Amino acid sequence: MTSEFAQAVSTEFSNPNFEILYSAERISERIRELGAQLTAEYAGKELVLVSVLKGSCVFLADLMRVIDLPLTIDFMSVSSYKDGTVSTGDVEILKDLSNPIRGKHVLVVEDIVDTGLTLTRLIEILGSRGAASIKIATFLDKPEPRIKKELIVDYTGFVIPNKFVVGYGLDAAGRYRNLPFVGIVTDPSKA
Ligand code: IMP
Ligand code: MG
Repeated sequence: MTSEFAQAVSTEFSNPNFEILYSAERISERIRELGAQLTAEYAGKELVLVSVLKGSCVFLADLMRVIDLPLTIDFMSVSSYKDGTVSTGDVEILKDLSNPIRGKHVLVVEDIVDTGLTLTRLIEILGSRGAASIKIATFLDKPEPRIKKELIVDYTGFVIPNKFVVGYGLDAAGRYRNLPFVGIVTDPSKA
């Protein structure tokens, strides 16, 4: 009964409108590597993972479970001001951190860095709060459309081509965040 029901309604993961870029297995392998690296580099430091909502929630959940250190997590939500379709680089804080970061080692956890405008502004905002260090871990890096070339991305899951991707937290109009893989939407008109 349960499985028949699941078969009848669960067509999202097998939607033919995706070209799979990274499978769930490939993602988990890469995140274990990042976890080992972060565990070594943050040993003995007071680490706070700051997740930028909503896209990074899946990456955060997996990444935090492969960092074998005492750590805390916090969340921020920002919206980018747009002038038509072009991002202006201004961001509005919709939800701020719950706790101060003074003296802490902050690792900002992002889903994807594209133009870099949002993260550049976010780092400026966090930079005035007395953290011991602020670094960036992004699941995906799309360097081609980067406007803020000076933005330093410290840890990257995968560097991807200039294509619109969904899944593993990334959305198209709110949908597809639950896909366990990362895919390119092959026909955006059907997305
Ligand atoms: P930017 O670096 O300021 O351009 O903004 C990055 C944000 O744009 C990300 O956090 C995503 O929310 C969104 N974004 C950029 N590229 C993609 C994509 O390929 N798929 C889904 N969201 C994207
Ligand atoms: Mg985002």
